[in-house]
Amino acid sequence: MLKGCIVGTGSTTPKRVLTNKDLENIVDTTDEWITRRTGIKERRISSGGLDENTSDMSTKASLSALEMAGISPEALDMIVIGTVTPDRQFPSVACFVQKALKASKAVALDVSAGCSGFLYALSIADNAIATGSCKNALVIGAERLSSITNWEDRSTCVLLGDGAGAVVLTPSTGTHGILSTHLQSDGSFWELLYSSDGISKIPEMLNTIEGKPFYMIMDGNPLFKKAVCCMADIATEALEHNELSSADVKLMVPHQANLRIIKATAEKLSIPMERVYTNIYKYGNTSSATIPIALDEANREGLLKKGDFVLLVTFGAGLTWGASVVKWSF
Ligand code: UT7
Repeated sequence: MLKGCIVGTGSTTPKRVLTNKDLENIVDTTDEWITRRTGIKERRISSGGLDENTSDMSTKASLSALEMAGISPEALDMIVIGTVTPDRQFPSVACFVQKALKASKAVALDVSAGCSGFLYALSIADNAIATGSCKNALVIGAERLSSITNWEDRSTCVLLGDGAGAVVLTPSTGTHGILSTHLQSDGSFWELLYSSDGISKIPEMLNTIEGKPFYMIMDGNPLFKKAVCCMADIATEALEHNELSSADVKLMVPHQANLRIIKATAEKLSIPMERVYTNIYKYGNTSSATIPIALDEANREGLLKKGDFVLLVTFGAGLTWGASVVKWSF
């Protein structure tokens, strides 16, 4: 039975740092409130110039992952990107990345699954490898959330940041690799987190034509409760499916939406925070990019060894959520 094996990781974030103190000058907030309620101290914001769009960050993260994997872009069969902030409505960010990398053989597509985009993309690539239709795949989570941030809404603008992360997958017949990915969606709660724009929704489209900005709208409180329950439940399902317990997890790499969500989820799973990777304090919530950025940083910090069980768990707009269990392979 073939499975996808992570053989390289990479990530990038924009140079510009926006601190909580900076935000005190933009909206009615304080460093103390943001730190206490979210765990965020600062975030990276894209310059919006020519080299920090979603596709640029995706390409940069990918080159770093490909270099680690020792795989050339020409050898890629698939590029899948989880994103809610594509450069353009179409073509896909993945097609821009394919062009930039000169990965001429690769089929390229984007996945829209809110903050769960990276795990959805990982599952698509892993399944393509399992069926033999793809050998080498590049899976990316990338966002320029600052482009859809309402800088007058203190309940959301303090949370968001920009960045990209990538992994390279190759086929494995051994015991290492992605053991399973478990995904769920529930569209009945879409109004808890959504974008105010619409392409086929005429009134919203007219708003954007008239020059009114569109942005993210969030009902944070109920979302918080759903996030903790959904992430804990799906992580439990993923561990049980692989006959593992929380004690077997070397590192949990969760979606970084709020440090309190991460802590509550870890507590429900009985995983101590020493075995949970967090970098939300420096990047905030980068949606689809949080997990691949965190995974790359954990990997480069030497926290992952061959044979370690890594639990990836996510939650986002849709609603969507998911978990993957990975047996680390290098
Ligand atoms: O990434 C995918 C999904 N995202 C999530 O899962 C995010 C889930 N939600 C959250 O992380 C949290 O709900 C937030 C961080 C968004 C908000 O934290 P909270 O502890 O749930 O605060 P709250 O919304 O209950 O607001 C508490 C108070 C309110 O004031 P009153 O009504 O009590 O007077 C807010 O107006 O905090 C106020 N507030 C702020 N105050 C200072 C909200 N935002 C801010 C702010 N600075 N930035």
